[in-house]
Amino acid sequence: MQQDKGALVKIPILDLKGQYRGIQDEIRSAIDEILESQQFILGPVVEKFEAEVAAYLRSGAAIGVASGSDALLLSLMALGIGPGDAVLVPPFTFFASVSCITRLGATPIFIDIDPETFLLDPGAVEAFVEGRARPAADGRGLVDPKSQCRIKALLPVHLFGQCCPMTVLLAQARKHNLAIVEDVAQAFGAREEIAPGPFKAAGTLGEFGCFSFFPTKNLGGLGDGGMVVTGRSDLAEAVRRLRVHGANHKYHHLEVGLNSRLDALQAAVLRVKLRYVDQWCEERIERARRYRALFLATGLVGKQILSLPNPSDGRSHVFNQYVLRASRRDELRAYLGEQGIMTAVYYPVPLHLQPCFAFLGYRQGEFPHAERAADEVLALPMFPELTQEEQEIVVKRIKAFYRR
Ligand SMILES: Cc1ncc(COP(=O)(O)O)c(C=O)c1O
Repeated sequence: MQQDKGALVKIPILDLKGQYRGIQDEIRSAIDEILESQQFILGPVVEKFEAEVAAYLRSGAAIGVASGSDALLLSLMALGIGPGDAVLVPPFTFFASVSCITRLGATPIFIDIDPETFLLDPGAVEAFVEGRARPAADGRGLVDPKSQCRIKALLPVHLFGQCCPMTVLLAQARKHNLAIVEDVAQAFGAREEIAPGPFKAAGTLGEFGCFSFFPTKNLGGLGDGGMVVTGRSDLAEAVRRLRVHGANHKYHHLEVGLNSRLDALQAAVLRVKLRYVDQWCEERIERARRYRALFLATGLVGKQILSLPNPSDGRSHVFNQYVLRASRRDELRAYLGEQGIMTAVYYPVPLHLQPCFAFLGYRQGEFPHAERAADEVLALPMFPELTQEEQEIVVKRIKAFYRR
């Protein structure tokens, strides 16, 4: 779409208008159906969408909720996590992966990331478990001697669309009696090979998978929305209850839950988009391959200048974001901005250094890989409609920056 004759270009990081144009009629008629029905909260369209997502993911149950943040919160609530409990979580992720823990009075224990993938590092999990955790007095699981909390769960985040190394994490969780709550907000459509065996959808491997339908996600709605996925019927029942104020029947409350329901309008739109999500994931993967080829040809990869995502083949990474490491990141970002190329930094401050988590007592330097990532990551334009020409311009301008 864009011409690069040294002239002004404008390449967004994400172009939702392009996607909408392609499916406008279907979206509008789905919305019209809801308007005609005047049923806006839960109801048959939400149920159909839940059944379709469960079938797509091959999971036992899918429960529509108000957001990805609530999906995480409700999952931890259903596991009974609260004060005196701890959850292992990476510090390099979106805020909600950790706030769901502290909101319940539980304690996040940060575990550093793998510098290659930016994902929770199973080696660091093992180092923590072997080096710091102690077996609980009752023989069930582990206790963190520093906080005196019982370690109840592991919360891996499939960041930027890439699956965590789940085979290893599942084995660790089994060994140490931990539940797994997968944060799949950015990875709808990703699949991980669980050795020995077939590929399974990210989000169906632990006790819970928590999805977000925030508009920028690979499957994004027209506002907030989320989904909890679980293979356990007891946990599914608990989440269904907790999303409606803990009521098992209307106005009969077994416990205190939330008001966290998926809107029918969102479900109707998401049902349309679900039909395209595989195609969109493939198009994102194709664009990531193209970036890789273009960048390799610049001679900038390695040499402490650029480092690219390098996922294995297949669908283990569905590129909700295309994130590389770049030296002089902030300067590069400003330069690209001046050239009309939009980029983003996910995430500039790791969560152990956020002011609201100061009470946890972590300090700068404790998670060097997360801290370095926060200084070096840069997300480039990535969306299914991104053209080859636009990608060539992005790479050309980055090359020009480093050759100045
Ligand atoms: C990794 C991660 N976890 C959780 C969330 C929370 O999802 P939501 O914005 O739908 O509450 C997001 C989305 O922004 C996310 O990227």
